[in-house]
Amino acid sequence: MPQPPSKPRILSGVQPSGKLHLGNYFGAVKQHIELQAQGECFYFIADYHALTTIQDARTLRDNSRDVAIDYLALGLDPSRAVFYRQSDVPEVTELTWILSAVTNMGLLERAVSYKEKIEKGIDASVGLFTYPVLMAADILIVRSNIVPVGKDQVQHLEMTQDMAGKFNRAFGDVFPIPTWRLDKESKVLGTDGQKMSKSYGNTIDIFAEGKPLEKTVMGIKTDSTPLGQPLNPDTCNVFALFSLFATEAEKAGLAADYRAGKIGYGGAKKLLKSKIDDYFAPFRAKRGELAQRPDTVEDVLREGARRARTEAQATMDLVRKATGLRW
Ligand code: ADP
Ligand code: TRP
Repeated sequence: MPQPPSKPRILSGVQPSGKLHLGNYFGAVKQHIELQAQGECFYFIADYHALTTIQDARTLRDNSRDVAIDYLALGLDPSRAVFYRQSDVPEVTELTWILSAVTNMGLLERAVSYKEKIEKGIDASVGLFTYPVLMAADILIVRSNIVPVGKDQVQHLEMTQDMAGKFNRAFGDVFPIPTWRLDKESKVLGTDGQKMSKSYGNTIDIFAEGKPLEKTVMGIKTDSTPLGQPLNPDTCNVFALFSLFATEAEKAGLAADYRAGKIGYGGAKKLLKSKIDDYFAPFRAKRGELAQRPDTVEDVLREGARRARTEAQATMDLVRKATGLRW
């Protein structure tokens, strides 16, 4: 039996579904990067999952490469975290099958994210239905302890706990029961005041700059209070976005200017834009460099896959013995 790791094992996956925005960054990526100091981290690009929605080779390839570069530019350190493409660790598909044998139909039928996608008119493929089993396999294949996610993924984690528990009761203790860790910023608002999301077209992309960024920030929806009148920071979306970047003193200063009518929405948006620029400038520079070195990125993913596969194969040995598949 392999020894349990001395530090908690932390794992999370990111779907290669397009450009990263402030919601993704403050809701997920920032925590992933910070957690590198707290445990043994496994992060991967969930390309098998993406096949349930992206069915175009070039889009999947480009998105996967982009998100890999984004994560590395934002501080993912391959000497501290194992970073890989999900499809480079095919053992997860074998574990998916085995877990599906201990998963009740009823459990999957209750999945909120599945029901929501069906309501949006997305075709119900078998893959979309069994998505949570693949996700459980991602988590259990490296015997993870902690899974940092957004609120929308918590039900998938409960399902993972259910599958791991059922497997262990049937076949003996192979899997630690993982827990989720909620990201700090669970709801960053978009330019229209709804939750920021690619599907609402209200995002501020973190690698946007110059004119396009200015256009997006200046387009944030506000009320029509005239310049010189007091504004309410507590209900203002520009203020909420500014707060993501600002110190307590900066927030208090801007709030006071709002209430005193000393600043209008246009001025506040300019402050927000310069905060975004200052914060992301070093990451943009790093991203530019990495984009020139596709081989370096590929090497990182290959080495990550090698390390993840070593763990995955050790887990599958235990699973095959426990289930009687190996004799
Ligand atoms: P989108 O809604 O744009 O498609 P995803 O569903 O791909 O974003 O989200 C990827 C990660 O980013 C998830 O962990 C999710 O919880 C987080 N996330 C996305 N949007 C937000 C938001 N507006 N606020 C906080 N976290 C978010
Ligand atoms: N389903 C997650 C999302 O859409 C991505 C994901 C796939 C994941 N496998 C995972 C997250 C395993 C955490 C652990 O955001």
